[in-house]
Amino acid sequence: MAPKTDKQNDIIEKTAAFVAEKLKDAESGHDWWHILRVWNNTKLILQEEEADAFVCELTALLHDIADSKFHGGDETVGPRVAGEFLSSLQVEPSVIEHVQQIILNMSYKASLGEVGFHSKELEVVQDADRLDAIGANGVARAFNYGGYKNREIYNPEIPVIENQSKEAYKQTTAPTINHFYEKLLLLKDKMNTKAAKNIAAGRHQFMESFLQQFYGEWNGER
Ligand code: ADP
Ligand code: NI
Repeated sequence: MAPKTDKQNDIIEKTAAFVAEKLKDAESGHDWWHILRVWNNTKLILQEEEADAFVCELTALLHDIADSKFHGGDETVGPRVAGEFLSSLQVEPSVIEHVQQIILNMSYKASLGEVGFHSKELEVVQDADRLDAIGANGVARAFNYGGYKNREIYNPEIPVIENQSKEAYKQTTAPTINHFYEKLLLLKDKMNTKAAKNIAAGRHQFMESFLQQFYGEWNGER
């Protein structure tokens, strides 16, 4: 894949500035720092995978620009805001459309299989986003989320429920440790690209060590 042109790099920089400003007061699971980590993960994956870096980086930057949770579940707001911004920079329509398709298909509705778009660039950005849910940052995000929801950290009497429906899962008030078994430890096997599978293996191992240490301390070991 050809390296990015100066013009493309300029557009990426302008997009980063737009997103940083737009998400400056966002909740910390999806704030600018999440976007920056996903952008970094994207660049890391692209060192080993053949994909259009311009499309991947723009999408990484814009993928959480308007979380549908805060727009009455409307999945079209994010792609629309992203499209309007990119049009204002005179980005080619084919690129804009591709970015919009990926954002739409990375979303909750898409995960229910209601939309069917596929591209290598989608694979890369979806992996980059999922990589931020595991490893040390994944651990931090999980406990941050649990704290925000006032969940228990751990309760050995509350069992893990695997394979729950998405709806049931959203209703859960289970302790944060359960979230590791219900989602985070399953993510390494959901990576699309070989590069992300390799990165995920290391981050997965870190979570396993974290859990081992956690239970050790919980049970009064040194
Ligand atoms: P995404 O942006 O990947 O769709 P979510 O909005 O579901 O993710 O979650 C944002 C962050 O909060 C992720 O790091 C996720 O692991 C974490 N999180 C989501 N649900 C829970 C939960 N029940 N307990 C702990 N952490 C959670
Ligand atoms: Ni995200």
